[in-house]
Amino acid sequence: MDVYEALYTTRAMRRVRPDPISEEVQRKILDAAIRAPSGGNSQTWRFLLLDDKAVLAQLGPIYRRCLEQVWNLVYKDRIAAAAAAPDDPEHAQMLRVQRSAQHLADHFEDYPLMLFSFAQGDPTGGSIHPSTWSAMLAARAEGVGSAWTVAFVFELAAVLGILGVPPEENWQFGSCVTFGYPTGRWGVAPRIPVHEVSYRNHWGTPVGFEIPTPLWSY
Ligand SMILES: Cc1cc2nc3c(=O)[nH]c(=O)nc-3n(C[C@H](O)[C@H](O)[C@H](O)COP(=O)(O)O)c2cc1C
Repeated sequence: MDVYEALYTTRAMRRVRPDPISEEVQRKILDAAIRAPSGGNSQTWRFLLLDDKAVLAQLGPIYRRCLEQVWNLVYKDRIAAAAAAPDDPEHAQMLRVQRSAQHLADHFEDYPLMLFSFAQGDPTGGSIHPSTWSAMLAARAEGVGSAWTVAFVFELAAVLGILGVPPEENWQFGSCVTFGYPTGRWGVAPRIPVHEVSYRNHWGTPVGFEIPTPLWSY
């Protein structure tokens, strides 16, 4: 797959089939992940693939409680504003994300594969998040959808306990990514265009060009 197609179309793909993901594909996902950069090439990371239904059953209720916290604590105002004016395009987008994220929570136990990532000694996350994105891009190349989640942070101790992460080793949770073959179609991720979020040389100075439509599309 063309690298730009992967970059433009790796979306949060939360509506997926329960079909298993072969070991061959799992190998490709992880082997791509470990090619990512880390500070000083330290590679102080661990990747935990999860496909054990018994463990998923333990984590599902925790994830749903955590997502409830996300709605109540992080997005409370935006959700209230969206509910008041659901036809406003920005609010409609928020409500779509909420519905989709809630779908993930409601079907947590049905995902065929998840990837938990952990790092040691890098509070910035810069030494773990690139590997996660590489895993998601590799999955995209294999036709596998993925969704990045961090909601577990609200009950991290319980999650780490269930996964058996040694508490004395100070592993920091990076993310939990769900995988699965999409039920829908791939599309280009809609985003605020480059010229609205970029500057040149000095904060606030226009970057010097405008890109009103994505430079890659189907
Ligand atoms: C740091 C981070 C945390 C996220 N946490 C969650 C989460 O807890 N639950 C969830 O369903 N999606 C989560 N997402 C996915 C985002 O909602 C998603 O990437 C965003 O809405 C863009 O989706 P799109 O690429 O399909 O447009 C997270 C993404 C990132 C990068």
